[in-house]
Amino acid sequence: MKIVILASGGDAPGMNMCIHKLTKRFTFLNKNEVYACKYGFKGLIDSNFEKMTTKQTRKHKNEAGVFIKTSRCLEFKSEEGLKKAVNNLKNFNVDYVIVLGGDGSLKGSVALMQKKIKVIFIPATIDKDLNYDTYSLGFYTAVGACCQYIHDVRPTMDAFDRACIYEIMGRDCSKLTNFVGDISKADLVINKENVNQIDWQILKKKYENKPSLTIVLQERILPPKQIEEKIISVTGGNVRYCVVGYVQRGKTPSKIDKIYAKRFAKVAYHAFLKKKDGVQIGIDAVGEKILKLS
Ligand code: F6P
Repeated sequence: MKIVILASGGDAPGMNMCIHKLTKRFTFLNKNEVYACKYGFKGLIDSNFEKMTTKQTRKHKNEAGVFIKTSRCLEFKSEEGLKKAVNNLKNFNVDYVIVLGGDGSLKGSVALMQKKIKVIFIPATIDKDLNYDTYSLGFYTAVGACCQYIHDVRPTMDAFDRACIYEIMGRDCSKLTNFVGDISKADLVINKENVNQIDWQILKKKYENKPSLTIVLQERILPPKQIEEKIISVTGGNVRYCVVGYVQRGKTPSKIDKIYAKRFAKVAYHAFLKKKDGVQIGIDAVGEKILKLS
């Protein structure tokens, strides 16, 4: 059979390992052919397919990023773009498409499924913004990157008695911010759920005890200047704003992400063997799951 693998939206540490393990399983004993669809859904529209062997994929398995490339493709969201993608898949005689990504990619997978394309979706996003409870590839590497960043910046903030705001990625989802706030023992976590209910008096008291406050902030919920001014007005103090930034996606995948990458490849392969399609796979504390795409 002909299998196409694509990654869409933000890359996530662990994607390369997962692509390698998928290629390894599917091409074992030359049972199937595996192709990369370069640049995600855009590659479907451009028919950008490239055959993969484990010899090639192995070279990238421990790297961050995604060597088959990704993109954010607006055209795919239009009926015309989707139609082009579906026609190209049919002309290329593709049996299965495996999609790695987050919420947007999940929606793209559903769109393909509705056009009778066989799809298996693998959760791979630092945002962990999926509509079901699952481990998400890259998430814990990103948590680690943020905590390391805060750990490295804290001493200098401390030296100047400065409060520091750390802006964390996650788009519309607060999970990464909340985990980082918790693990790095932040004095205040500001996310989209609590942004209008913050008790600034509590922060003021904390500041009086220890001026070098650690404030963890979910990106995109407030303009940086506005939050900085608010913290200054509360503390009357010295404040700095740090964007933790793309290091959250660019970190070398952690061991745990590599282990999950292998597990996801295994679950996806089992779904394929069981002739399941139109599915989103997941792993949670209880175990592995194969759910209907939704
Ligand atoms: O979806 C992953 C993510 O890193 C978000 O957390 C962030 O808001 C966004 O991508 C950044 O997108 P871009 O790489 O297009 O700037």
